[in-house]
Amino acid sequence: MINSGIIKTRILIIGSNGMLGQRLTEFLSESKKFELLAVSAEEKSFIRGVEYKSLDITLKQKVKELILNFFPDFVINVAAYTNVDKSESEKEIAWKVNVNGVENIALYSWTIDAHLIHLSTDYIFDGKSGPYTEEDKPFPINYYGRTKLAAENSIRTSGVRFTIIRSNVLYGPVKFGRPDYVRWVINSLRSGKEIRIVTDQFNNPTYLDDICSAINKVIEYNKEGIYNIGGFEVLSRYEFTLRIADYFLLDKTLIKPILTEDLKQPAPRPLKSGLINLKAETELGYKPKSLEETFALIKKEFDI
Ligand SMILES: NC(=O)c1ccc[n+]([C@@H]2O[C@H](COP(=O)([O-])OP(=O)(O)OC[C@H]3O[C@@H](n4cnc5c(N)ncnc54)[C@H](OP(=O)(O)O)[C@@H]3O)[C@@H](O)[C@H]2O)c1
Repeated sequence: MINSGIIKTRILIIGSNGMLGQRLTEFLSESKKFELLAVSAEEKSFIRGVEYKSLDITLKQKVKELILNFFPDFVINVAAYTNVDKSESEKEIAWKVNVNGVENIALYSWTIDAHLIHLSTDYIFDGKSGPYTEEDKPFPINYYGRTKLAAENSIRTSGVRFTIIRSNVLYGPVKFGRPDYVRWVINSLRSGKEIRIVTDQFNNPTYLDDICSAINKVIEYNKEGIYNIGGFEVLSRYEFTLRIADYFLLDKTLIKPILTEDLKQPAPRPLKSGLINLKAETELGYKPKSLEETFALIKKEFDI
């Protein structure tokens, strides 16, 4: 689109009401270089001031109409069926959204030669020998992970120009919908609630704005391929929770260490996971903030 003499890059954000989607929509809307269309499952957008349409990505014809009408340069897909435990019992819907939905997006992005940027996860790995590089062999141990790996593979074989961004444990200033992990810990401990946190799951929690900046760089540099975008340090969920409690001056005695097997969750979890960011650091100039820097930003934004 031509506006005040600038040719804007057209970006379609799919899943704009989700945790990452809402932040990404706000983040990209701050740039004058982009013409955005945000779409998500709900009737209405959480984010004001950005053009919005409702879209169910499992409806192939609707995906086709939307992509062919908007004719984006980039399609960013952050929509997904993300309930890991429910994916075990609701396999059909998890597959329909995470695989068939992504196939629809990839097909019509390819049709108009748009560049597809798609969000994936460390749950494609078995968690035996993390943190992982982009080259490590995936071996999902739960159904959610299988759907996310199948989505990656369908993109890779679709012919579309693509960037797959793998991330893990997203957190940050989420304004709409369920609170993120940091906010949940703060709310729980401030209300005197005891929380049971696993000591045997390791990964590098990723700050939402770090991943938004990385996506921005992918667009700016036109980078294709697979990129790990994880947080600054790998640590256990228990240590992460203690660091949150330390920073926000919360009662650490309410944090009870447990093992993953104690939770008896329907979906097995990769234990020794996490993502090595070296490729993104080298090729995108990716520089994740330290945990305490991100906590300071959350504190400032939410006044908590
Ligand atoms: N959160 C994490 O810790 C994490 C870690 C690694 C990777 N990821 C990946 O990052 C991406 C974003 O995750 P997130 O945490 O932001 O997820 P989220 O909060 O669950 O958001 C996903 C969004 O997709 C929408 N959606 C679901 N089914 C849809 C459909 N059929 N058509 C259109 N939209 C649909 C959801 O709408 P409803 O809410 O109405 O269903 C929601 O708005 C996902 O690809 C996820 O796999 C997340």
